[in-house]
Amino acid sequence: MIPDATLAALFAAAVAARENAHAPYSRFHVGAAVLSESGAIHAGCNVEVASFPEGWCAETTAIGKLVSAGEKSIRAVVVVAEGDRLTTPCGGCRQRLAEFAAPDTPVHVGGPDGIRRVFTVGELLPASFELEEQP
Ligand code: THU
Repeated sequence: MIPDATLAALFAAAVAARENAHAPYSRFHVGAAVLSESGAIHAGCNVEVASFPEGWCAETTAIGKLVSAGEKSIRAVVVVAEGDRLTTPCGGCRQRLAEFAAPDTPVHVGGPDGIRRVFTVGELLPASFELEEQP
């Protein structure tokens, strides 16, 4: 569990990042924010390119910013999209989240109006693929 004020800040960061989504092909704007072990918040949006498979998800942008800032551990995640269906991280992003989060790390999903459901990383990616890190 993270404090309510921290979750509110994480949610606000995801909403703000979503405003910058570059999604001219799907028109589906997504924002994501990750809370690091140090308490820093890293947020990102989806970035689409004309060669469709080359685009990437909001979660991937946020994880890239976390790692670029020298951090390796995610304590909580927020994903904000739109529409009636829940937007949960795609398969690739589940694996990326599992790389830097624990199975019990919460993933809050919802829309600009608020969080609608909370999953854990372990629920989203059970029996995840792992490798030993090399010395
Ligand atoms: N997308 C995300 O950014 N995150 C998700 O969790 C699901 C999908 C993006 C990828 C693409 O730019 C658009 O949403 C439509 O699939």
